[in-house]
Amino acid sequence: MQIAIIGSGNVGKALAGSFTRAGHDVTLSATSQQSAQAAASQSGGQAAESNRQAVGSAEVVVLAVPYPAVDGLLADVGDALAGKVVVDVTNRLDPADPGSTMDGTSAAEQIQARAPEARVVKAFNTAFASRQADPVVEGVALDAFIAGDDDRAKQAVAELAGSIGFRPIDAGPLVMARALEAMALLNITLQLRNNWPWQAGFKLVGPTP
Ligand SMILES: NC(=O)c1ccc[n+]([C@@H]2O[C@H](COP(=O)([O-])OP(=O)(O)OC[C@H]3O[C@@H](n4cnc5c(N)ncnc54)[C@H](OP(=O)(O)O)[C@@H]3O)[C@@H](O)[C@H]2O)c1
Repeated sequence: MQIAIIGSGNVGKALAGSFTRAGHDVTLSATSQQSAQAAASQSGGQAAESNRQAVGSAEVVVLAVPYPAVDGLLADVGDALAGKVVVDVTNRLDPADPGSTMDGTSAAEQIQARAPEARVVKAFNTAFASRQADPVVEGVALDAFIAGDDDRAKQAVAELAGSIGFRPIDAGPLVMARALEAMALLNITLQLRNNWPWQAGFKLVGPTP
């Protein structure tokens, strides 16, 4: 797949490495081109000169920026996302005030509202960057929960997740992004409260035919 990753930080680098290892063609962008270049050389992808150039011919666009940057990003390239599969990895949360984002919406729904022609899919946000880079723990594939309103877009993201080693699971319509974002908040809170090393990931056990 031709994939653009907007954001070249922890998530951008981790997913870019996993995608290129799986044979996908990855272009990264960032606020600074230096950052995109560093991530590209580290992950085997290519650096774009701008977000718009990254999005260019991509079939799948991954949003891997801090949630507060999303508004500006959509003002910049929202029109170019029309018809594309847009994977929202952002987490709209404040671990210091966990209730503040449990407010009956989600980042993914807000992105869909701002970019109505994009085919928004929530995915990968429940996995830390460490596990996005390496989704198999002691031989067990972590689950990638995928929510969206466009079934074909979800199927494409499921194939992408499977190609890098996750077990993809269809979590339902885009409104289920609220649950997926709460899962991320739970895992972040657990790491902080228990001083865990940000390596734990979600796996459903028991029969899931
Ligand atoms: N870290 C995790 O384990 C994890 C896991 C799941 C989900 N998430 C979510 O994923 C998102 C990214 O997290 P992260 O840890 O990768 O953050 P990060 O390390 O701070 O990286 C953020 C990246 O976004 C870039 N950026 C910011 N505004 C931009 C814009 N307008 N256009 C293009 N690029 C822009 C930054 O560019 P510069 O490099 O030039 O500053 C940077 O490369 C967040 O929403 C986070 O909640 C994180």
